[in-house]
Amino acid sequence: MSISKVGVIGAGTMGSGIAQAFAVSGFSVKMSDIGQEQVDRGRKAVEKSLDRLVSKDKISVADHGAALDRLEGVVGLDKLADCELIVEAATENEELKLKIFRELSALVGKDVVLASNTSSISLTRIAAATTNPERVIGMHFFNPVPVMKLVEVVRALQTSDAVFEQVDALTRQLGKEPVAVKDSPGFVVNRILVPMINEAVFAYAENLAAPEDIDRTMQMGANHPMGPLALADLIGLDTCLEVMKVLHTNLGDPKYRPCPLLQQMVDAGYLGRKVGRGFYTYE
Ligand SMILES: NC(=O)c1ccc[n+]([C@@H]2O[C@H](COP(=O)([O-])OP(=O)(O)OC[C@H]3O[C@@H](n4cnc5c(N)ncnc54)[C@H](O)[C@@H]3O)[C@@H](O)[C@H]2O)c1
Repeated sequence: MSISKVGVIGAGTMGSGIAQAFAVSGFSVKMSDIGQEQVDRGRKAVEKSLDRLVSKDKISVADHGAALDRLEGVVGLDKLADCELIVEAATENEELKLKIFRELSALVGKDVVLASNTSSISLTRIAAATTNPERVIGMHFFNPVPVMKLVEVVRALQTSDAVFEQVDALTRQLGKEPVAVKDSPGFVVNRILVPMINEAVFAYAENLAAPEDIDRTMQMGANHPMGPLALADLIGLDTCLEVMKVLHTNLGDPKYRPCPLLQQMVDAGYLGRKVGRGFYTYE
């Protein structure tokens, strides 16, 4: 099936970015969330991001308008019934994702490709919750989606070669670089990156240095463009914590235990940029 209509589930940090990437590349996109408020916030985020691209001469004013025209915000999953590809980017929670995929497989035809942007949850388990699990695959985008080139294309044990090839080609159509990755907790990037962030939280909790200094050391000493605590704020501390929990539970190695301070910050609601407060504060 050739794909022109795409559904995106979740209008948060990643869902809005993914919806934007498809809309800019000419796809007709429906971005769905649980309420009008979330959908409106997601659409505003896309508009702001497109404004920035215009101000940097990356896209024209006409392309900005055309991309927004191709993007429709909707409430509820049932509005995605006519989509040919659905990319799920809802909150990182296994029960929630299994429920969404169960509902999707009852809602759409058996050839519709069902992708998840999960950071760490098993695609094989997600696929097993659906009918026709061979059309389930991971499309793991990176934050901020309009800027980051990589998409980890994650094959569930059940994913067919045809679906893998279709998603690999589609990723290139978005101007992104696909890398094929085995279905394993955290895939490749988060298996390496999030434990490093967790270790930076331990360093902060143990007062090794101030947050700015922990970040500066990694920027200047390891040539990272952004320090680990600033990156945690960008990713979302709740997402980082969930990834550590998935690594810890599924790989069973105590080296993946989440730092207690990370858990406490999430309990306090200090989730990073998206709420204005994490390791740093934001306007
Ligand atoms: N933040 C990152 O850097 C990053 C990077 C790659 C992948 N991811 C993954 O992307 C997914 C989304 O993360 P995010 O950072 O965008 O989170 P977020 O908290 O910014 O957004 C999640 C959105 O999902 C919505 N949602 C919850 N339940 C829903 C449902 N039943 N139907 C529709 N929408 C629903 C929420 O209302 C919210 O708007 C997660 O699986 C996360 O692991 C995140």
